[in-house]
Amino acid sequence: MNIVFLGAPGAGKGTQATKICDKYNIPHISTGDILRANIKAGTPLGVQAKGYIDQGLLVPDGLVIALVEDRLAQDDCKAGYVLDGFPRTIEQAEALSGFAHIDLAVNIVVDEALVVERIAGRRTCKCGESFHTSWYHSDVCNKCGAPLYQRDDDKAETVKARLEVYNKQTAPLIDFYRNQGVLKDVDGMQDMLKVFESIVKVIDDNN
Ligand code: AP5
Repeated sequence: MNIVFLGAPGAGKGTQATKICDKYNIPHISTGDILRANIKAGTPLGVQAKGYIDQGLLVPDGLVIALVEDRLAQDDCKAGYVLDGFPRTIEQAEALSGFAHIDLAVNIVVDEALVVERIAGRRTCKCGESFHTSWYHSDVCNKCGAPLYQRDDDKAETVKARLEVYNKQTAPLIDFYRNQGVLKDVDGMQDMLKVFESIVKVIDDNN
């Protein structure tokens, strides 16, 4: 099944996508993770993307669409995948329709005050795991042992810009997928396990 995860910054897309992909043994394709890996490696894409990400703005559609089209052409995507953080604009969603069939769009719904709190306490590991200071009290990842860090774009002033960008450019995708009859809302304000179970139910009901 080809699945898109929608939701505001900090809604829990990455957290849930990791668990869902483990359960169904399908790849987790996060454009944010791919772009951050390119920044770290100093690739031409990373150099271009960094300026946008640091300001909380979207990387230009053309760059991201090409990246996702290449990724979805790989063999491991044949049995399905979860797209996390893509599409993020109507233009990206329309381009995606040209090279992929989306079976389900899961919209993780969390109110704005809570996403701000979640982002402020997020600590990230280079392996992709993320934690929150309210329930995780170590400086190192419990999966790989690497030191945790705060993402540059998780600073308060950048988060404000990211939320504005989300409301203006990404939230319209909710209606885009609702109109296609593939959108399911999931209450993302529940604890992580409950959110996971809700998403599993939505996926299994669609199979
Ligand atoms: P990206 O990395 O995609 O960031 P985002 O969409 O802003 O999402 P986040 O990673 O901030 O949040 P999340 O929903 O994954 O939440 P998480 O699970 O970590 O993009 C970053 C940047 O890259 C963009 O701003 C843009 O510049 C660029 N970019 C990426 N894709 C692009 C595209 N397609 N086009 C153009 N530009 C693009 O959870 C957050 C915290 O909450 C964690 O601490 C977690 O532990 C905690 N948490 C999660 N769920 C719960 C729960 N149920 N209860 C309590 N705590 C929870």
